[in-house]
Amino acid sequence: MSNSQIIGKATWRDDVRVLLQFLHGRRGGADHGANLDAFYGPQADVYDRFRERLLHGRADLMQALDLKAGQRVIDFGAGTGRHWLFIEPKVPRLARVDLVDLCTPLLDVARARFANYPDVRTHRADAQVWRADEPADAAIFSYSLSMIPDWRAALMNAVRQVRPGGLIGIVDFYTLPAQPPGPFKPLSGWDRSFWPRWFRHDGVMLRPDFPAVLLDVAATVRLEQGKARLPYLPFVRAPWFFWIGRVPG
Ligand SMILES: C[S@@+](CC[C@H](N)C(=O)[O-])C[C@H]1O[C@@H](n2cnc3c(N)ncnc32)[C@H](O)[C@@H]1O
Repeated sequence: MSNSQIIGKATWRDDVRVLLQFLHGRRGGADHGANLDAFYGPQADVYDRFRERLLHGRADLMQALDLKAGQRVIDFGAGTGRHWLFIEPKVPRLARVDLVDLCTPLLDVARARFANYPDVRTHRADAQVWRADEPADAAIFSYSLSMIPDWRAALMNAVRQVRPGGLIGIVDFYTLPAQPPGPFKPLSGWDRSFWPRWFRHDGVMLRPDFPAVLLDVAATVRLEQGKARLPYLPFVRAPWFFWIGRVPG
């Protein structure tokens, strides 16, 4: 089945609604969950249709994780859980998928989507502190790490809950220091200065120090860096990456 059959086709009215929300930006009050509800609430029903053209690399990450029957996975900042449909036939064979998010309207979409999957659980909770009952085989952040205020705390919370030898998977927009570490290929000066400013308006924080931290907490299994078009911005390409790291034994 094609993506547009799964998610539905975006109409221009849906797009206008989402674009107005982007223009308005995300408010920055002290209650992060309330800020997320206010930003995503008015667009939750069309979120997936717009993000289909915005959040690249999610299918690549989900497939590259190569999850096996009986495994347990924690998804931090899971939103509507749309990315799980990229590997939908595997989902009922997993022992547990915990979808953790602070945004009630997006989690409501996820809850309805996976209503017939008893081992897919939704949790309204902060990724910086939420803890599972048992160690996980993998933890993922799909375009969420850049929206979590204390992203280091969230990453370390995930690493602590993945068993030795398990995987951390991240897909997101990104920036880098001028001379990035290890396997990361450099970005142009324009990319490094334009995109962090562009995304900040909507509460997406691109931090140049993140690659060093990733490389410190897990051994790189796979890294892909790409650039992709964004809806209604025909002349620019935004950098995105996905990375899979193995937690040391
Ligand atoms: C751009 S959306 C990505 C959603 C989904 N993972 C996807 O790929 O479509 C970022 C998500 O991170 C969630 N988020 C941001 N900060 C969070 C936090 N501290 N704890 C849990 N979720 C958070 C937001 O509510 C939102 O669902």
